[in-house]
Amino acid sequence: MPEMRQSSLVVVANRLPIDDSVAPDGACEWRRSPGGLVSALHPLLRHTPATWVGWAGGTGPAPDLPDVDGVRMHTVPLDAQDLRDHYEGFANATLWPLYHDAVEQPEYHRRWWEAYQRVNQRFAEAAAGVAEPGGLVWVQDYHLQLVPGMLRELRPDLRIGFFLHVPFPPPELFMQLPRRAELLRGMLGADLIGFQRAQASHNFAQLVAKVLGLPATDRRIGVDDRVVRIGAYPVSIDTAEMAALAGRPDVTARARRLRHDLGDPEHVILSVDRMDYTKGIEQRLKAYSELLASGDVKVRDTVLVQVAVPSRERVAQYQILRERVEREVGRINGEFGRVGEPAIHYLTQPFDRTELAALYRVADVMAVTPLRDGMNLVAKEYVAARVDDSGALLLSEFAGSAAELEQAYLVNPHDLEELKRMLLSALRAAPEDAGERMRAMRAHLHRHDIRAWARSYLSALDETGSLVRRLSSSG
Ligand code: ADP
Ligand code: G6P
Repeated sequence: MPEMRQSSLVVVANRLPIDDSVAPDGACEWRRSPGGLVSALHPLLRHTPATWVGWAGGTGPAPDLPDVDGVRMHTVPLDAQDLRDHYEGFANATLWPLYHDAVEQPEYHRRWWEAYQRVNQRFAEAAAGVAEPGGLVWVQDYHLQLVPGMLRELRPDLRIGFFLHVPFPPPELFMQLPRRAELLRGMLGADLIGFQRAQASHNFAQLVAKVLGLPATDRRIGVDDRVVRIGAYPVSIDTAEMAALAGRPDVTARARRLRHDLGDPEHVILSVDRMDYTKGIEQRLKAYSELLASGDVKVRDTVLVQVAVPSRERVAQYQILRERVEREVGRINGEFGRVGEPAIHYLTQPFDRTELAALYRVADVMAVTPLRDGMNLVAKEYVAARVDDSGALLLSEFAGSAAELEQAYLVNPHDLEELKRMLLSALRAAPEDAGERMRAMRAHLHRHDIRAWARSYLSALDETGSLVRRLSSSG
């Protein structure tokens, strides 16, 4: 057996940053997987001597992957039962809906919990095998909340961080979870637990005090003889990279071409989501359809481009959502479209970064209206891509990014009338007002980019500061 290479920084996430896909010529190729976690960490780790422990998608034996941009890929295999009970079950049909305000009913099954424990143990063992003595392991997201505790048992020499990319729910909701105490204890294996928002740290501290009876403030929790620190570290994007991409002459030309292909309308509205019931796609379509029906929006002047890349496709709630969205898009196009002029351009394909940047450049209004979202990086990507300071961002109050992008057109997506009104305001925004808002948001994102996020989290975790220095000098 080849000797396992060890790293001083190990990232552990359910998903690796690459996904297998089939190229148009039938060859197998790797592409960046859509989703916020990968979008955040991928640019950060590039050229850093780190190991990423994760699942490569699929249920075969773990493939041996080459390094990607200097980062070692260490795959953890999932078999068909793990996929069904851990990934689709406990992670995405129990925790995901529970953590997103239970906008869909979370399901509880004992078999799913067993699989969650089993798979978390496998990830913990994989991380323990590749971390250097005294190294730093950074565990990501809701799929792996037991890993910090399990890893501490295996490797007490490590510094362990945990970051939750999704919301952490209020006690009233979390208390539903049948194995709530074990889950909290698992997270407390970390030295530092990071959340997207201060409200989440507060929820967590309250729960730890209530369920485990531990002394807890919104910053520190006493566990045995250790202190676990908690706090808000809102995740971000590689702002400069997106701005550089969006400003490239070929991307500008591509945006012009896209506008032409859309019929050179006065207004282009864009939405880019994973096909997920948390994203508020149905509410947005309803608002748009009512604006078309009332004549406030006319198909020839305005087009909506809805990108909705399918996600978690075997989970029933996702299948139902896709059917409903596609029925509604069909109905709206049937009712309001004309020959060669659909009311909604509906696309379910994954796009590369260049095409996404061109789409952002062409969008006069970006509609980001999730019912609940940990952060929502699409909103930040749009702002970063508006290099000429034009464009308007319609943003849900329930997205984590709303706490930072205060100059957006903020909206409660549950309120259909408000959604319609704010969409019209964004469409009719005076250019000077829109420009001022966009400038302020872009300035914020240039200061608070993905490197600033990593610096603030890792310097809190790694008291020696050596890792932060290395990350700052890489990429
Ligand atoms: P989530 O993590 O819930 O999917 P985010 O908005 O935080 O939501 O992150 C989504 C990420 O996935 C963004 O970086 C976005 O650019 C990317 N993405 C979304 N749709 C596509 C698509 N069709 N093709 C490629 N990337 C996509
Ligand atoms: C969200 C989660 C990530 C996840 C991503 C895509 O961003 O926080 O952990 O990777 O969605 O979902 P998927 O199920 O395809 O990994």
